[in-house]
Amino acid sequence: MAELTLSAADIASAIKKNLEGFTPSLEARTVGRVVEVGDGIARISGLPDCAVNELLEFEDGTKGLALNLEEEAIGAVVLGDSDRIEEGQTVKATGQILSVPVGEGVLGRVVNALGEPIDGKGPLVGVQPRRMEIQAPGIMGRKPVHEPMQTGIKAIDAMTPIGRGQRELIIGDRKTGKTTVAIDTILNQKGQGVKCIYVAIGQKGSTVAQTVEVLRQAGALEYTVVVVAPASDSAPFKYLAPYAGCAMGQHWMENSQHALVVYDDLSKQAEAYRQMSLLLRRPPGRRPTRATCSTCTPASSSAPQSSATSAAQAR
Ligand SMILES: Nc1ncnc2c1ncn2[C@@H]1O[C@H](COP(=O)(O)OP(=O)(O)OP(=O)(O)O)[C@@H](O)[C@H]1O
Ligand SMILES: [Mg+2]
Repeated sequence: MAELTLSAADIASAIKKNLEGFTPSLEARTVGRVVEVGDGIARISGLPDCAVNELLEFEDGTKGLALNLEEEAIGAVVLGDSDRIEEGQTVKATGQILSVPVGEGVLGRVVNALGEPIDGKGPLVGVQPRRMEIQAPGIMGRKPVHEPMQTGIKAIDAMTPIGRGQRELIIGDRKTGKTTVAIDTILNQKGQGVKCIYVAIGQKGSTVAQTVEVLRQAGALEYTVVVVAPASDSAPFKYLAPYAGCAMGQHWMENSQHALVVYDDLSKQAEAYRQMSLLLRRPPGRRPTRATCSTCTPASSSAPQSSATSAAQAR
């Protein structure tokens, strides 16, 4: 029977051989834990440096958005399916503040509230990220309204002219043609050098598909981007969609171009905001600054601030 001999040199060379391809990599990351999850809301502990509106990443790759910064924990909304997230799972702070792609590359595309394309035409090209929530310039910093923005509907253009840089609220009962006025206005911008953003919030997916088809057939999709947060999406997406549309418009506005943003409709966004606020145990009302604005420009009561022309719809 052969005697088993092991020499120290053999063992050392075997270990060295195994370690040859090993390069240690270090990564510093703040990792927290889910304390509580439910109704699309998660409470997370252990992320003391997290910023408001910072993107979080749950263990299964689902994204989250930190909204409530409390002493002991963070209140975050889950941007996706919260069913797979369980208590005790790890959460990473990504260090990125919520942003959307903006630029010429979004024209002709249909994107969701996070700016991800959902029209099956592949990834967006020629875009750059822009933070979703940027403080809008104050009234004094804005140029006076001096150029018209025509809807193409004679009665409106004659009686209630709209200017570029102005907000206009379209209000009416169900099925009275609010969306039709907004879409007609987008169609009328052909050749006027106005980029259009149609933000569809809380509508049926099929209704939005019909609207996109109308825009496509009229050749209006070339200068339009459609941001969709359908009724089937969770509340955070409906809450974020107008901010995404607004960021896209602001990008053009800052580059001396004209933009028309249509929020259809903001009552759905208000509902989503209320739902999120109640679940996060925040006061469900709007911020006082926005409520004050609403006396002169009603559309701003629930719309993100932008000096791009915007048309908002509310029932
Ligand atoms: N000027 C018009 N003349 C005739 N029919 C119209 C006119 N404007 C809109 N309609 C029709 O009325 C219907 C409802 O229009 P639309 O969807 O624009 O209403 P809405 O106010 O946006 O509805 P909702 O409250 O459901 O959002 C559509 O079928 C549309 O084609
Ligand atoms: Mg409508």
